[in-house]
Amino acid sequence: MLIRNLLAEHRAPLERADADALGVTAASEVERFLAHREGHAPTPLASLPGLARELDVGSIHVKDEGHRLGLGSFKALGGAYAVVRLVLEAASKRLGRQPGIAEWRSPEVAAVAAGMTVACATDGNHGRSVAQGAQLVGAPCVIFVHAGVSEERRQAIARYGARIVRIEGNYDDSVTEVARAAEENGWIVVSDTSWPGYERIPRLVMQGYTALLREALRDLPAPPTHVFVQAGVGGIAATVAAHLALVFGAGRPFLTVVDPAGAACLFESAKAGRPVKVAHGRPTVMAMLECYEPSLVAWRILSRAADAFMTVEDDEAVAIMNRLARPLAGDPAIVAGESGGVGLAGLAQVARDPALRGAIGLGRDARVFLINTEGATDPVLYQQLVGIAPGKVAAATLDGS
Ligand SMILES: Cc1ncc(COP(=O)(O)O)c(C=O)c1O
Repeated sequence: MLIRNLLAEHRAPLERADADALGVTAASEVERFLAHREGHAPTPLASLPGLARELDVGSIHVKDEGHRLGLGSFKALGGAYAVVRLVLEAASKRLGRQPGIAEWRSPEVAAVAAGMTVACATDGNHGRSVAQGAQLVGAPCVIFVHAGVSEERRQAIARYGARIVRIEGNYDDSVTEVARAAEENGWIVVSDTSWPGYERIPRLVMQGYTALLREALRDLPAPPTHVFVQAGVGGIAATVAAHLALVFGAGRPFLTVVDPAGAACLFESAKAGRPVKVAHGRPTVMAMLECYEPSLVAWRILSRAADAFMTVEDDEAVAIMNRLARPLAGDPAIVAGESGGVGLAGLAQVARDPALRGAIGLGRDARVFLINTEGATDPVLYQQLVGIAPGKVAAATLDGS
């Protein structure tokens, strides 16, 4: 299922605050911060010529965020960055001068951080990033996880020293609960989703994601013509849409937002012409995309800068994980978690349907850009779904097993 963006605001300019946060200047600032982070290296951009031939498109490039900062997902870029920026802002008030990004590990800044508690609700990856950022600057951190977050994912967050609170209920309940607890205790909520009156911090989180686009645009042999990005609340899709619109203007690529069929809040919002909350369905295997209400900032951007919205089913997401682990001859193997290959699942669905190809102008000369947003962030589940341990993926491919 795919619908074109027919909203009145489609292709309208971005709002000033969104454009300022997600353009080239802001992205350069993020890269300056990353340069001070241990273990930082640009993630690989894989070319998949075999799959491009099979899907009858010109080229496919996948930015592989499974390698990001030891956290296994692009989320490593957002939450941690926002925490450091917030600590620097607080330090600037306390010290009466603006500390530069390079000072984030100085004793003066650490003293300020020690008095700030940051908190968030998470499905897994965002909480890991916020906890890592808090540990880096020495800020206390409380992460709320809901009943559906696996024990593996809970432990991965706890490793960064955060206090974990597990609540009954689902993701939305954990968002409500963290807001209540933060109000009561004076904590700062560092959320990756936004709502009326709460936009600035989620926008900082999204700003952190821009680094992956700077890297990709440096590495791509030519600008993409088509982009497929998966969505939970829409933060990463909106960051990609905004950054590409700001860099390429009217010549930007055609951008399709890909939602899980069971939690298609952006798809349904596009149909309704306004942000809508969708009913909870069966849990989806695309756990990180299981969000029922779009982020307000993300929706505002996507209603202008996304060109189509579509959904994919669980079996398509799992088939793509398997395909990336056992690629066609000549293509590198990629470890993609359950939510990682969903943009590619969207491309595969469109590429195999002549009517959909025509609808978005996906031809033999198309240069497609995708993001593998996560590696095996839950290795046990990965092995169940793919039949290979994540660490053995490339070797298994070489063996032909
Ligand atoms: C691996 C992965 N992919 C995609 C997303 C979707 O990002 P967003 O919620 O910003 O749309 C998430 C969100 O947690 C994620 O962890």
